[in-house]
Amino acid sequence: MKVTIIGGGGRVGSCAAFALQCGGLVSELQLIDANLETAQGEALDLLHGSAFCGDQKIYAGDYARAADSDIFLITAGLRRKPDESRLDLINRNVALFVGILDSIRSAGFRKDAQVFVVSNPVDILTQLAVERLGLRWQQVYGLGTMLDTSRFSSFIADELKLAPTQVKALILGEHGDSMLPVWSSASVNGLPLTGLPECTPSFQNAVFERTKGSGAEVIKKKGGAGWAVGVAIRDVIHAVLLNRRCLLPVSSLVQGAYDVRDICLSVPSVVGREGVIKHVEIKLWPKELMALQASARALKDTLAKVKA
Ligand SMILES: NC(=O)c1ccc[n+]([C@@H]2O[C@H](COP(=O)([O-])OP(=O)(O)OC[C@H]3O[C@@H](n4cnc5c(N)ncnc54)[C@H](O)[C@@H]3O)[C@@H](O)[C@H]2O)c1
Repeated sequence: MKVTIIGGGGRVGSCAAFALQCGGLVSELQLIDANLETAQGEALDLLHGSAFCGDQKIYAGDYARAADSDIFLITAGLRRKPDESRLDLINRNVALFVGILDSIRSAGFRKDAQVFVVSNPVDILTQLAVERLGLRWQQVYGLGTMLDTSRFSSFIADELKLAPTQVKALILGEHGDSMLPVWSSASVNGLPLTGLPECTPSFQNAVFERTKGSGAEVIKKKGGAGWAVGVAIRDVIHAVLLNRRCLLPVSSLVQGAYDVRDICLSVPSVVGREGVIKHVEIKLWPKELMALQASARALKDTLAKVKA
């Protein structure tokens, strides 16, 4: 499988490339960046480790060489400033993103190619990609709340001294201010987390607030997210590559699930070789359902502003 990373010279793109190199399943990794030298530098650095990692083709390229890609992973963008909400980034990032979509289109792409959006605001940009590329909705998806879900589960495990990989706690909705925690299905090795005496309402509130603020916290401390977003991206790409049919909170065009329509955001989605295979409407608590619908409304408002 060939993955082209647009923005591959940046932090998120290069961390994703490293995660995919260590994962050893992707056969070809091409890095494209507006700053050609950083793409070449990252590709070279990755190539230097090939002998210890895997038999992958890794190089810096261009859109013409990307035309036969299985997945276009878009991480190019401007970073959020410490006090800026993800949606405030929108005006700065939309024009840049549309330019990238136009470059993909004019160089050509396969009918079965998939577009995987990571740049922020990820839900809005995923929607623009669905609307502008003419691919089936299943072929265009965003990272959505994958990273938030990983942060949430990791924090819960850390606080409760549990094994991180055994804690499953979803964040759904917008990758942004209106995201929501899904305690109704949160579990540790299949047992409900809310059944633990330590999982009090104040604990739940604190761990969610920490999750919600952790993007800004990491920007403040090290400039931006890298390692965790890299492995979250790898998880999605491997689910596609291995046709794993994993249930993941990626962002895609929702058309009826939870009474939400015509907007990209994260709902539980089955991911496999065709991209997003289907949405799964797992029963939520009424307050979770209301929060998910409010998140969809918030995104629709933003989308309307972008299109105005
Ligand atoms: N969805 C998520 O969970 C998530 C998490 C972290 C970061 N992000 C987003 O990812 C994006 C990248 O963040 P970063 O920390 O890697 O930033 P960065 O500044 O390190 O990297 C961005 C890269 O994009 C390149 N670039 C800019 N314009 C381009 C263009 N037109 N074509 C090709 N390349 C171009 C830059 O040269 C740079 O190398 C941001 O939008 C950020 O908000 C999303």
